[in-house]
Amino acid sequence: MNQAIKLSSVAQSRTIEHIVTGVATSDGAGVKLTRVLTQNLQQRLDPFLMLDNFHSDDPDDYIAGFPDHPHRGFETVTYMIAGRMRHRDNAGHQGLLQNGGVQWMTAGRGIIHSEMPEQEDGVMEGFQLWLNLPARRKMIPAWYRDIAKEEIPEYVTAEGVTVRVIAGSSNGVTGAMTREDTEPLYIDIDLPAGSTFSTRIPAAHNAFIYVYRGFVTINGKTLGENRMGILANMPQADGVILGATVPARAILISGKPLRESIVQHGPFVMNTKEEIYQAIRDFQDGCLGGAA
Ligand code: CO
Repeated sequence: MNQAIKLSSVAQSRTIEHIVTGVATSDGAGVKLTRVLTQNLQQRLDPFLMLDNFHSDDPDDYIAGFPDHPHRGFETVTYMIAGRMRHRDNAGHQGLLQNGGVQWMTAGRGIIHSEMPEQEDGVMEGFQLWLNLPARRKMIPAWYRDIAKEEIPEYVTAEGVTVRVIAGSSNGVTGAMTREDTEPLYIDIDLPAGSTFSTRIPAAHNAFIYVYRGFVTINGKTLGENRMGILANMPQADGVILGATVPARAILISGKPLRESIVQHGPFVMNTKEEIYQAIRDFQDGCLGGAA
């Protein structure tokens, strides 16, 4: 887009309810990452189940990757800021995720896949978000889409803020993906120093911002680098307004809560314990995704 878009007005911004510092952990075959959205926040941030941030220029931190592992009951959204990741699944699909690209994967009733770095040096940086599925859609067939950087709609504001719309709709620009049940908004915001930005968010949706460069200010409160700000649900707030005094980059994610019970056991997220036992049995029997 060559012409700067006009921002939709936001009369009152949400405030930051709580600031979360991610937890350093490792997953897969020893990939070092920061778990930002942890299990104790699943109710508060429904329909989101997890957010991991990986960022390293040391191959030892990521080279082992995520060998074959299962998923059932939700969707994974992997956004690569830098680096290349090859994914392969038990249905014979594969794809290469690289700089600025997104893989949107609906595990549904089941998938077994691997996510492996395809580089031996350099920076690997990105996010993996887990988005829940409603009970009635947890057992749909697995599905995925690789979205190249060029396919992700992008807009620039008059103040030079660049926004990539991965999912949902922001300031009249519809993103690469839409989801009816959870109506996720997922945008990556690149703010030059001295700029402000606003976008509308339905008051009932749960929302958070994660800053991964610099810092931003929301209603007078500063949100620093590598911090997640949970945005308060305020009936009178129609969106969020952020300001940056230094160059900053952040992802903003919101969605419509499902308000269903959440039972997680590792890579399976269902509504009841019985469904978790079934998932484990199906995985052991080799029929997670369908007939053995
Ligand atoms: Co996975």
